[in-house]
Amino acid sequence: MTDASTQPAVTSAEMSDPSDEITNLSNNPTFASVVDATLSRRSVLMGSAATALFSSLGGMSTLALSGNAEAATTARKLLSFKPVAKSLVDAVIVPEGYEAQVIYALGDPLTASTPEFKNDGTDTDFDNRAGDHHDGMEYFGLTTDGKPSTKSATRAVLGINHEATTDEKLSSFFIHANGGAASLPRPAAEVDKELAIHGVSMVEVRKTASGKWEYVKNSAFNRRFTTLTEIDIAGPARGNALLKTKYSPDGSKTRGTLNNCGAGRTPWGTYVTGEENFNGYFTRPKGDDEARSNDKHVTALKRYGRAEGVASRHGWDSAGSADKYARWINAKTGTSADGSDDYRNEMNAQGFVVEMDPYDGKKLAKKRTALGRYAHESAAFSAPVVGQPLAVYMGDDARNEYIYKFVTEATWSSADATNPDRLAVGDKFLDRGTLYVAKFTSDGSGEWLELSLNNSAIKAYDKYAFADLADVVVNARIAGDAVGATKMDRPEWCTVNPANGEVYFTLTNNSNRIVEPKNAPQLEPDAANPRSYTDVKGTSRLQTGNPNGHIIRLREAGGAGAKAFSWDIYLFGAEASADPATVNLSKLNANQDLSSPDGLAFSHATGICWIQTDDSAYTDVTNCMMLAALPGKVGDGQKVNLSYTKADGAKVSITTPVGKAPTEGELKRFLVGPKGCELTGITETPDGKALFVNIQHPGENTKMADVTDPTKYESQWPANAGYGAGKRPRSATIVITKKDGGVIGA
Ligand code: FEO
Ligand code: CA
Ligand code: CA
Ligand code: CA
Repeated sequence: MTDASTQPAVTSAEMSDPSDEITNLSNNPTFASVVDATLSRRSVLMGSAATALFSSLGGMSTLALSGNAEAATTARKLLSFKPVAKSLVDAVIVPEGYEAQVIYALGDPLTASTPEFKNDGTDTDFDNRAGDHHDGMEYFGLTTDGKPSTKSATRAVLGINHEATTDEKLSSFFIHANGGAASLPRPAAEVDKELAIHGVSMVEVRKTASGKWEYVKNSAFNRRFTTLTEIDIAGPARGNALLKTKYSPDGSKTRGTLNNCGAGRTPWGTYVTGEENFNGYFTRPKGDDEARSNDKHVTALKRYGRAEGVASRHGWDSAGSADKYARWINAKTGTSADGSDDYRNEMNAQGFVVEMDPYDGKKLAKKRTALGRYAHESAAFSAPVVGQPLAVYMGDDARNEYIYKFVTEATWSSADATNPDRLAVGDKFLDRGTLYVAKFTSDGSGEWLELSLNNSAIKAYDKYAFADLADVVVNARIAGDAVGATKMDRPEWCTVNPANGEVYFTLTNNSNRIVEPKNAPQLEPDAANPRSYTDVKGTSRLQTGNPNGHIIRLREAGGAGAKAFSWDIYLFGAEASADPATVNLSKLNANQDLSSPDGLAFSHATGICWIQTDDSAYTDVTNCMMLAALPGKVGDGQKVNLSYTKADGAKVSITTPVGKAPTEGELKRFLVGPKGCELTGITETPDGKALFVNIQHPGENTKMADVTDPTKYESQWPANAGYGAGKRPRSATIVITKKDGGVIGA
């Protein structure tokens, strides 16, 4: 979706970015009036209890014991590698002294009896193969005898999201021999493959005697979750009328997890996966609004991007009358009052954080509804402190959506970290608590606003009558509208700095942050989303709004349960040559410049903050990339003034707190990926000597019509790196090691 008539045509891949949908038509102020809040500026350095806990969890002993990133930095001389230059080469490029090795790509078999992947579009049985579009990822260590371990650096289960698929005209064309059917109805045999390439992999990986890593084809830990896997509904929405379907008339279960994007690792050793752009897979025929008497459910469906009469992304609903296809039509077709005889409520079961036990293949995954339903990315946990609640930080990735925090009702005890019934610990922490949404104020303060019926703004909201807590969490976006949350420039991943507890969020870009809004969803810049400018792509294409994105960070005023925070903007994406007064506000040089930050995670071994890009703005100059950063803290920079002039001469003046501009010793490029990819997924061995990263959708700008002509592929990676059969590009997990066996980033 483009927002301005001045914007030249975009490529089909850019057009189909579902994150670009805007459904936030609320009239929330984008900028709150200044609150008279006195914020505690005391630091949130971990107490001794947390220090002990993190030491026991392994992997961050140096940092936890010193409690000081600077000390660890000095001790290890981090970021001493030579930066990688921007690149348009179809290859993974890492610094001198490093190696990158492909270990797990689309189609790789997960059982001994599954045939090797031919990569020519004839492969089937994707329930037993790696899915597509590898995304968020976490490392779960295993001892040599296969027990959970927080210290093992040689054997693990990787949890890996398979977000989506490279598609054009409905079809995931690289997995079909001749590209598949480009019109409706879609053939069932094609749809069955597509239903299975989405979801999550649990896959065992190990370091061999030669020092190389590999995935273990016949491991008993290998497991796929797809769009059809049975999953429990947990938390306040379990059993609620909003979740009743023909498949689960009591609202306790659903099938599948969908568009799994960012991820996270709980302090008790489970995997959490975020369901992002779920709405596009469903469809409702014209007339469904009326069939539902234009009730509040229609209001909610529109707010979640599911207007009637819009085709689904892949046409899975068209493949036949079988239930696994019909469920994608979330329309009122039955006669029941509660939806237990149709799939009118089916979409309400997608858009959650889902918890999975990587070590136990028998347990059903659980949708943790208390954390809210929206386009989830990563879920980042505060450092556990004995006797204190945990905070879970999350973003909603669509233009003009919100940042959230969930605070657990239960408090942490050290036994929780090692309880072998990990999903029971998940029940304890993730099913009861309070969901908040963020409001940023221009003075550098902010508030967490409670999303429950305890909040009068929600109870009295005149645009949607919330029935109960289940209604609030299932329709968290509407609750955020009701309380006046701040609309952000597409919140992607978040991560917690282990050195000081500060929380970082990537705001990847926003074409709708414009000085003179013409239509309701378009927003003026504000202090937390302060840039609006024009960037040229190639020789002529104008990209407006905030095309390069930024990274915002928060410091809680107290512990995990704090209701207030202070904030600044750690880093602005920009081209090095852009104007330092209005665009390149972080003064990035050519070894640091980046666009559209997305994946984001602090290493618990080194304290390095890894930044990955999912960009289409700077891709005329460089493929997507990964950078290593050593950030300071909230307030280490200065206030920056930006001013804009409207057509009528009126001035818009913004003052925003900006972090200290990074030196090259504090931010430099570490990796550039192959053509057409985004970099995503960041996890590591506890010793920091192996870094796992995902290369998602290499070659995504290939045309479906060229699927049988490798010379026309945008990318032939990873085949051109010596991995696997065929030449069709494949999403894949890579592992990065140092040739001298040292710590990554040192
Ligand atoms: Fe799946 Fe928002 O990236
Ligand atoms: Ca440019
Ligand atoms: Ca993402
Ligand atoms: Ca993205």
